[in-house]
Amino acid sequence: MKRPVHTAREGHGGGKPRILIADDEQSMREWMRLLFQRDGFEVFTAEDGIVARDLVGREYVDVVLTDIRMPKLDGVALLASIRESAPDVIVTMMTAHWTRDSAEWGEAQQKGAGALFEKPFRDVNLVTMQVRQLLESRRLRHENTVLRQTTAQQGFAGIIGRSPVMLEVFRLVEMVCRTNSTVLLSGESGTGKELVARAIHDLSLRRSRTFVAVNCGAMPEALLESELFGHLRGAFTGADKDKKGLIEAAEGGTVFLDEIGEMPLTMQVKLRRVLQERKYRPVGATEELAADIRVIAATNRDLPKSVADGKFREDLFYRLNVIPVKMPALRERAEDIVLIADHFLSKYTREMSKSIDGFSPDAVAALGAYRWPGNVRELENVVERAVALESERRIEAGTLPDNLRNGQPATAGGAQLDQATVEAGFNLERHLQDIERSHLERALERSGGVQTRAADVLGLSFRQFRYLAKKYGLK
Ligand SMILES: Nc1ncnc2c1ncn2[C@@H]1O[C@H](COP(=O)(O)OP(=O)(O)OP(=O)(O)O)[C@@H](O)[C@H]1O
Ligand SMILES: [Mg+2]
Repeated sequence: MKRPVHTAREGHGGGKPRILIADDEQSMREWMRLLFQRDGFEVFTAEDGIVARDLVGREYVDVVLTDIRMPKLDGVALLASIRESAPDVIVTMMTAHWTRDSAEWGEAQQKGAGALFEKPFRDVNLVTMQVRQLLESRRLRHENTVLRQTTAQQGFAGIIGRSPVMLEVFRLVEMVCRTNSTVLLSGESGTGKELVARAIHDLSLRRSRTFVAVNCGAMPEALLESELFGHLRGAFTGADKDKKGLIEAAEGGTVFLDEIGEMPLTMQVKLRRVLQERKYRPVGATEELAADIRVIAATNRDLPKSVADGKFREDLFYRLNVIPVKMPALRERAEDIVLIADHFLSKYTREMSKSIDGFSPDAVAALGAYRWPGNVRELENVVERAVALESERRIEAGTLPDNLRNGQPATAGGAQLDQATVEAGFNLERHLQDIERSHLERALERSGGVQTRAADVLGLSFRQFRYLAKKYGLK
């Protein structure tokens, strides 16, 4: 006989959440079974309270959804018995006899009942959704929120930081990495959203499978759809052979949907279906495929505002926003600035084989006073540049960019016009083109030749980037 282990994490480390439906009415049991199976649950059923109670003692279940009036043992008695024997199991109740205002429901809540669903259901999707929410909040309660001291020193999973706001991020990462829950990362550009997405994947049970990053803002809708879902040969002009989509490539792994706020509305409908039904249809195909992927989405937009403006679908927003993680701007965690600067200092002194031991007090003050509109990415660029230029054994304030010393944000593109070059024979047009070209080259180099990412780094649309890359004949 299997021994039930009642821990909060069970059923989520990769397996399906398990629900027990207890109802004496067979049609109700079957309907609920279908509903929850469709939503990705493993479903058990019981026709009376005793069968339900025994099943909970024998099998591991996450949730019980029980009728109130049942033969042998009613829902309230079942609730009491489960509270005793398996306190971690979430018990929810469904009935035509109570309302949310009933005294009986008040008592059941006192005894630990999680939710009441009044029959007949107004919207069955709310039932599964609310059950999922209860599962999520149970996990929140149970997770170990104390990070090991050592990891808290420098950071967590390659993410440097020890400010309270970052500790909160680490806590969330640690919590979600054991689950399959969808994560929505938000925050300004350069705050580390992609870094966190990769950390979640690398710490998850899916780590041996593929992590795929897709920039939803970088391509036109039709291309995005065929990139994600794949297509069959002949699906459209130019589709000369079948092509696997990224979702299939990431089977068992993680799909990172970057700039989700830019996703076209019709594509949003299709994505919602992936999240809800775990199914999708390759372009030109008649059959649907099953998607076993964990989705992590990121945006630097205010998505609730996009929803209000009708630019982002509300239903998709709720499907994505299961676990929201807000990446704080660098200026909101001043205590991390020097820590991160030190990290990049050792990285670049090593890369460039220089011996620089640290920052001068003035340099530290300048780094700390600056607003960092480009966040960690900007800090990394500043440190890299300073290491390249510094001739002393420590980074002096004078080696830092001017705009940083006078507290100004960098000019667009960060180009510094060198006074010395403005003399006879100077050609501004050519000078600007040189700068443009070298930025493009650098961005391509840093993004490993991935054009969408290079465009990203430069704050260009993919289209603009391609135009410029072509203009300068870059590959
Ligand atoms: N806390 C951190 N510790 C170390 N490196 C970091 C940290 N945060 C960000 N970085 C580095 O800064 C750079 C930018 O981070 P990332 O690409 O994850 O930002 P992002 O939030 O996805 O930005 P965008 O919205 O512009 O795409 C990366 O090179 C990343 O490795
Ligand atoms: Mg990014």
